[in-house]
Order: sequence, then C-alpha cells, then structure tokens
Amino acid sequence: MTVRLAPSILSADFAHLARDVAAAEAGGADVIHVDVMDGHFVPNLTIGPPVIKAIRRAATVPLDVHLMIDNPDPYLSAYVEAGASMLSVHAEVLPHLHRTIGAIKALGAKAGVVLNPSTPVSAIENVAGDVDFVLVMSVNPGFGGQTFIPRALDKVRTVRAMLDRAGTGAFVEIDGGVDLTNIARVVEAGASMVVAGQAVFGQPDAAAAVRALRAAAVAGRVDVG
Ligand code: DX5
Ligand code: ZN
Repeated sequence: MTVRLAPSILSADFAHLARDVAAAEAGGADVIHVDVMDGHFVPNLTIGPPVIKAIRRAATVPLDVHLMIDNPDPYLSAYVEAGASMLSVHAEVLPHLHRTIGAIKALGAKAGVVLNPSTPVSAIENVAGDVDFVLVMSVNPGFGGQTFIPRALDKVRTVRAMLDRAGTGAFVEIDGGVDLTNIARVVEAGASMVVAGQAVFGQPDAAAAVRALRAAAVAGRVDVG
C-alpha cells in the first residue's frame, strides 16, 4: 500500500504559508491538507476560499480541503473553484449525504466523508460505494496538536473492510494526533493517506519532519505487505 502524506497547514505560520507549503513539498508531501472551520460545527475559525486560492497558487501538489462547517452544500463550488482537488464533508451535519457526495463529484473533485470520533461507521454504510475516500478523525476536530485517540485504529480497520466490500477502490485517510510514534500503526490499520499538523509544522524543519514520518510509516506498510 502506498502511503500519502498530507501535512495540515493549521499548524503552519499563516503569515508564511507559501514558504511552509514549499518546505512540506520539499520533504515529499503528497497533498496539502487545509482545515476550514466555521466556529459553529467546531469551536474554532480558520480560513475560506480566498486563502485557499492563494495556497493553490503557491502549492504544486493537490489540495485536500476538510470542511468542518455546519452547512457545506452552498459552498462546495466555491471550494472546488478555489482549488480543492479533494473535498471532505462531515457525516454529522448532512441529512442528504448521498446528494452532497454527488455534488462534489459533479464539480470534479474527489469526494470524502468525515467521521468524528463519536460517530459510528454505520452512519456511512449506505454511501460506501459512492465516496472516493473516508476521513477518520482521531481527535475531536477544531484544533491542531491534540492527543491521538487510540480507538480510531479499530475504526480505520472497520472502514477499510467496509470499503473493500464496496469494491470501489476508495481509500481511508486519518486526521488528528498522528506523529512518529503512531504513524506505523495507523498505516498498518489501513489508512493510506495520513494528515499531520504539529508533527510537520510544529517541528523546526518541516521538510525533515515529512521525511521522518514517511520513514516511520514504512514500518506499517511492510506489516501489511
Ligand atoms: C483538526 C484538524 C486537523 C489538524 C491536525 O481539527 O482537522 O487536520 O490540523 O493536526 P495535528 O496533526 O496536529 O493533530
Ligand atoms: Zn483536518
């Protein structure tokens, strides 16, 4: 299994985003993870389409935009137009999840559904065949630098098995508290895209941090063959 690394700019220096994105890319980042927060769904506010547009100009890899907002439907096109190649929405806020996934795909982006730590995998069983990826939260969303919730490993396994049954080639992404001490285990559990904020931009050398995460992830990859 190839592991893709997705540094989260939430822990970057917002006054030097282009510099920090370039450092992550120099270390081998596969995508840049962008956290959008609305102050309602999560207790924090971040950025919107204009800043994503600016990051799009600075980055050379795809942007993975994680929408932590209550009412994403009216804004999907704005985020794709701003430069999101991957767009994920939370299952907790969407009564018509199937419709939203279809809308994201119709805009030309990869469609992802996100599960909070307290949300059961069963909530997305009926869209397992429709999504391009499932993002498993291993912290309660809202802030970078939180502690990894170990139960997320079982959830990654359950989601991976569900997607295998659906047989579509969709992948599992994991987000929250991933660092050098646990990245091998999340990969072994079945996550093939790994978000890391503090473990990249909270380190003195972001490029070196991405390289170290990849080296540590290889242990997990070898375990699954
Ligand atoms: C949390 C965000 C994460 C966050 C991860 O709400 O969705 O993407 O930036 O940061 P770390 O890796 O520091 O937990
Ligand atoms: Zn995120």
